[in-house]
Amino acid sequence: MIYRTSSTRATEKLAPKILHGLGAKHVIAMDGNLGAGKTVLVKGIARVLGVREVVQSPTFILMNVFPVHRERFTQLVHVDCYRITHPDELVNIGLPDYLNDPSALVVIEWASRIRTLLRGKALWVTISVADHDTRRIDFKGVL
Ligand SMILES: Nc1ncnc2c1ncn2[C@@H]1O[C@H](COP(=O)(O)OP(=O)(O)O)[C@@H](O)[C@H]1O
Ligand SMILES: [Mg+2]
Repeated sequence: MIYRTSSTRATEKLAPKILHGLGAKHVIAMDGNLGAGKTVLVKGIARVLGVREVVQSPTFILMNVFPVHRERFTQLVHVDCYRITHPDELVNIGLPDYLNDPSALVVIEWASRIRTLLRGKALWVTISVADHDTRRIDFKGVL
């Protein structure tokens, strides 16, 4: 499924479609260059889940956990792999527990850096910059 958005707001508004596209999965793996709009999409997802705290790209933290009370989810786990050099860095801070917990919605930026941890589990979302305000957003089931 491919979408094109022409504003930040339009990208945030794709969140319900992505959540619907999850089916039985609970992991959203995002790829795309710096400034593509991954965090914008995470913010849209947080809003749908009723998370009030501001979701930012974790700067020094690799993983942020927010409590949620929405449908089947009790936690939103926001992971940013930009700074990691090895998937073990996320293993060491407990990511596998969340990947094995279907009540945790795990949303991962720069997910291809931890592809080995995600195999078969995630809905993959690739964002690319088409021009200044236009983004191409592609959802894929399995990678
Ligand atoms: N259609 C769009 N969708 C998402 N972001 C957009 C769009 N057009 C412009 N932008 C801008 O692109 C940037 C995306 O930033 P961010 O979400 O932090 O990127 P990433 O997390 O992928 O590095 C923001 O400055 C946002 O305002
Ligand atoms: Mg980001």
